[in-house]
Amino acid sequence: MKKIVFLAVLLSFFAVFGGEKMENETTKTIFSRKSVRNYVETQISPETLEFLVKAGMAAPSAIDRRPWEFIIINDKATIKKLHDALPYAKMVGKAGHAIVVAGNIEKQAGGKDSTFWIMDCSAAAQNILLAAESLGLGAVWTAVYPDAGRMKSVVEILGLPSNIVPLAFIPVGKPDGSDKPKDKFDKAKIHWNHWSNKAK
Ligand SMILES: Cc1cc2nc3c(=O)[nH]c(=O)nc-3n(C[C@H](O)[C@H](O)[C@H](O)COP(=O)(O)O)c2cc1C
Repeated sequence: MKKIVFLAVLLSFFAVFGGEKMENETTKTIFSRKSVRNYVETQISPETLEFLVKAGMAAPSAIDRRPWEFIIINDKATIKKLHDALPYAKMVGKAGHAIVVAGNIEKQAGGKDSTFWIMDCSAAAQNILLAAESLGLGAVWTAVYPDAGRMKSVVEILGLPSNIVPLAFIPVGKPDGSDKPKDKFDKAKIHWNHWSNKAK
C-alpha cells in the first residue's frame, strides 16, 4: 500500500513539475525563434526556400480555403528594388532572399470583402518563421499590409494582380548569431475559466 501511495505521489509530482517532458524539437524551435536582422551573406538553395513555403502552406485556414500566394525572391536586382522601397526591411540587403506572403482576397472564406485572408496568411507567415529557425536560418516578418505605400511598392515591383494583397515581406538569410530570443512569458496575461481568475 505504502508503495502505491509513494508511486502516486511521484507520478503527480512529475505531472505537475515534469516540465522537461514538454521540451521537444518543436517547442525548442518555438522558444528559440527570434526576428533575425543581422546576417552573414550566403546563398540559400531554391529547394530550401521552397521548403519554407511548403511549411507556410501547412498552416490552418478558415474553411480550408488556403487563400495564400507566396513570392520567393532570390534575384539580386529584385532584392535591391525591395530594399530601396521598404523603409523597415533594410536587412534584406544582407539576407539576400525573401518571401512575400500574400492573400488572394477572392479565395478567402466569406468572400472578397472578408478579412479571413489576414489570419490565414499570418498563420502561414509564422510557419515560415518557425521552419526557418528550425533549419538554422534567420527570418523576420516585416509589415507590408496595412501600409498603403509599402503595399503599392510591393505590388508594383512584383507585378501582383489586383486580387492579390501582400501581407508580409520576410527576409531570409543566414544569421550572424547576434539576434537572441526574448523570454515573453507573462503569467499576468493568463486567465483561468473566467476573466477574473488570474493565474497564481
Ligand atoms: C505584424 C508584424 C509586423 C512587423 N513589422 C516589422 C517591420 O516592419 N520591421 C521589422 O524589423 N520587424 C517587424 N516585425 C518584427 C517585430 O518587431 C518582432 O517580432 C518583435 O520585436 C518581437 O521580437 P521577436 O520576433 O524577436 O520575438 C513585425 C512583426 C509582426 C508580427
